[in-house]
Amino acid sequence: MTMALLREIREQFPQLQQLIRGRRLVYLDSAATTLKPRRVIEAVHQHLSFRVANVHRGAHFLSDEATECFENVREQVRAYLGAESKSEIIFTRGTTESLNLLASGLAASFLNEGDEILLSQMEHHSNIVPWQMAAAKRKALVRFIPVLDDGTLDFVAFKKMLSQRTKIVSLVHLSNVLGTVNPLASFFREARSYGALCVADVAQSVSTQPNLVADLDCDFLAFSGHKMFAPTGVGVLYGRYGLLEKLPPYQGGGSMISEVREDGFTVLPPPHRFEAGTPSIAEVVALGAAIDFINEVGFDFIHSHERMVTNFAEECMARVAGIECLGISGQRSHVLSFLLAGQHPSDVGAILDEQGVAVRAGHHCCQPLMRSLEIPGTVRASFSVYTSEEDINDLLNAISKAKDMLS
Ligand code: ALA
Repeated sequence: MTMALLREIREQFPQLQQLIRGRRLVYLDSAATTLKPRRVIEAVHQHLSFRVANVHRGAHFLSDEATECFENVREQVRAYLGAESKSEIIFTRGTTESLNLLASGLAASFLNEGDEILLSQMEHHSNIVPWQMAAAKRKALVRFIPVLDDGTLDFVAFKKMLSQRTKIVSLVHLSNVLGTVNPLASFFREARSYGALCVADVAQSVSTQPNLVADLDCDFLAFSGHKMFAPTGVGVLYGRYGLLEKLPPYQGGGSMISEVREDGFTVLPPPHRFEAGTPSIAEVVALGAAIDFINEVGFDFIHSHERMVTNFAEECMARVAGIECLGISGQRSHVLSFLLAGQHPSDVGAILDEQGVAVRAGHHCCQPLMRSLEIPGTVRASFSVYTSEEDINDLLNAISKAKDMLS
């Protein structure tokens, strides 16, 4: 990437233009949430200033317009994911709600006693706890595919774990701790030969790759808008239409029924069956603006820039005594977790923060992974399209300061 182009991209993010405690902001926490470009901020501003109206209800101009904008974003998401129909796109509050909706629906309609749900040791809690809750309701079993020393999933162990009892395989595409990109299409091909449903958590990969539904060949897929430049409070659950049709509603209320009687109710078909109540309208509109931003910058560009920055950071860190990077060298995607010998990750994170470097330290909502690695947590630097070499140099200087202060 040329310096001029990077400068142009950075200028689109107002948050990067400010000083934090008198210092330039070095934002290396994009895996937690990305910063927001001006066009996303402007979409929220425009909507809240001039376009406020409820969707799917109104008998007036602005309500029709809001409904059209809202439904256009559903179509934009469909195209973005390479899904067949916009009826397969359900708007939720985020990945966590998407997976809870799915797990609770499958518990009610699909799982039976003795069935098995396969997850992996590198899952985020949002792709563990909903399944544990579903399993507890149905007396099913949750099993975990081990993580190998290089930070990849043990495919051989996975194949041995599969059986006729395997009903659901739900896996993360890009680990929020290790940066590993799991070859989910291969995992799902095996799982499907046993008739299992395949679920992809693409929260970390959704901004780096188009056509995820088609490429991963999954039955369901979940992500949040806020990790792809959109605001918090909006996410998506994708599901194959034939499967969504068999799922019961998650919540009851307005907008999800065709009729309510004193003796019961009749639900709408998907996706509206799963969208009870007034949705996050401004946030959905802004998700559309975020997709426009990604399409304008280009997936190839985002992906290659993030890889370049990650590799540069890793190469620099390899030269610092006492630093250990976790995961598979040279193949991580925009996430770099590391340990400073003998130091607790939270202490390191706190010193980096004092230097104006924003990282995440701790277990990253992945306690089973931490337990398998036998560590309390990591310090995690995560990158995005706006991350610069200067950011990485500042990170290294801050690490060096942390080493001095903690030794
Ligand atoms: N899942 C987000 C992270 O990894 C919040 O930081």
